[in-house]
Amino acid sequence: MLLTDEEARLLRGEAGEGVAEAMEVVVRVAEAIGAERLVKISRAHISGISFRNLGEEGIEFIEEMARKGLRFAVPTTVNPAGMDMENWRRMGVNAWEYEAQARVLRALEAMGAEITLSCTPYLYSPPRYGEHVAWAESNAVLYANSVLGARTNREGGPLALFEAIVGRAPYAGLHTDEGRAPTIAVDLSPVKRLGEEGGYYSALGYLVGSVAKTGVPLLLNTPSGLSTSCNLKLFLAAVGASSSVGLALIEGISPEFRRVEGLDTVALEPHQLVEVLEKWGEVDVDAVVLGCPHLSPQELVELYNRLRGRRLLRRLLLFTSRWAASRATHAVRGLKEVGAEVYVDTCMVVGDLRRMGVESCATDSAKAAYYLTNQGYRVWLAPRDALLEAVTA
Ligand code: F3S
Repeated sequence: MLLTDEEARLLRGEAGEGVAEAMEVVVRVAEAIGAERLVKISRAHISGISFRNLGEEGIEFIEEMARKGLRFAVPTTVNPAGMDMENWRRMGVNAWEYEAQARVLRALEAMGAEITLSCTPYLYSPPRYGEHVAWAESNAVLYANSVLGARTNREGGPLALFEAIVGRAPYAGLHTDEGRAPTIAVDLSPVKRLGEEGGYYSALGYLVGSVAKTGVPLLLNTPSGLSTSCNLKLFLAAVGASSSVGLALIEGISPEFRRVEGLDTVALEPHQLVEVLEKWGEVDVDAVVLGCPHLSPQELVELYNRLRGRRLLRRLLLFTSRWAASRATHAVRGLKEVGAEVYVDTCMVVGDLRRMGVESCATDSAKAAYYLTNQGYRVWLAPRDALLEAVTA
């Protein structure tokens, strides 16, 4: 394993014991995945920061790092927390849980993180083409690699934390040209019309992930509706939920897309898409939950325009970032007046819908449908337009 002089100094502990420990983790991972060297990263995004996910031991571990004076070497953002940090009582969270989450955030902030609490870092601070970053959060990884042409592996939350401390990641996988070469071609032409007419972009992403499973799929003949940012977010998040894919080369979207001859090719059939939709067919629901990934300012405005003057027949829970809500204040106010519940800092999966009185829900996100089903909820997956039509008068 080749280390620069500076990296060797960090590993020897010349910048402190904590940095040396972080460097050791990054180097060990690099060796395990066959990287010959590390690469400097320009920013990091850490996931898994909910108090529920960390537990008392995890919280104390992060607090200890902050107490030791460890600091992030690069701009670092963080994924959603277990609650809206202002309106936590409305989510059925108790004071003890709030304090546990606040301790995590105080420690991360002391280490230099920007407390963004959102899974859409690509919306407010998109990395440039070719930029090396270390992001943990599969939808963000897929967006950064596939849409922006930035380079990151699908990091685990703890690894991204250590990479943020040392400002480096193993130079392997999606950081390298070879690791970004397509491994399978997926032809969407047989399902293009059904996907487009029904607006089934999220289900389509789930299907692509289930078929590709791993590697770098080259997606051919993609529906034109994928070019809207909302559909693209839903699509890529779903690819990430049903596979370990971190980069999809999408025709008409990805800057690195090139047609390649000689790849194994799989064609997606309409019945496969129907099977995904049937997996989460219509059920009676307590609420519609939208915002996986977090809603953008534009989506908030579109939702408000859509719901203005209408009456909600079911609860409508919207999840977004504090950043997006601050850029669409008029829409957020209007949505609340219509009766929608708007939450920031958290999401339907990381938060606890049961505490909010929800046992069954409808969503437009196959990623949310997948994880909520695993948490025991009854879930109906359908396009946003259809859901809004079903729950308004
Ligand atoms: Fe984001 Fe939560 Fe979905 S973190 S991608 S809204 S599961």
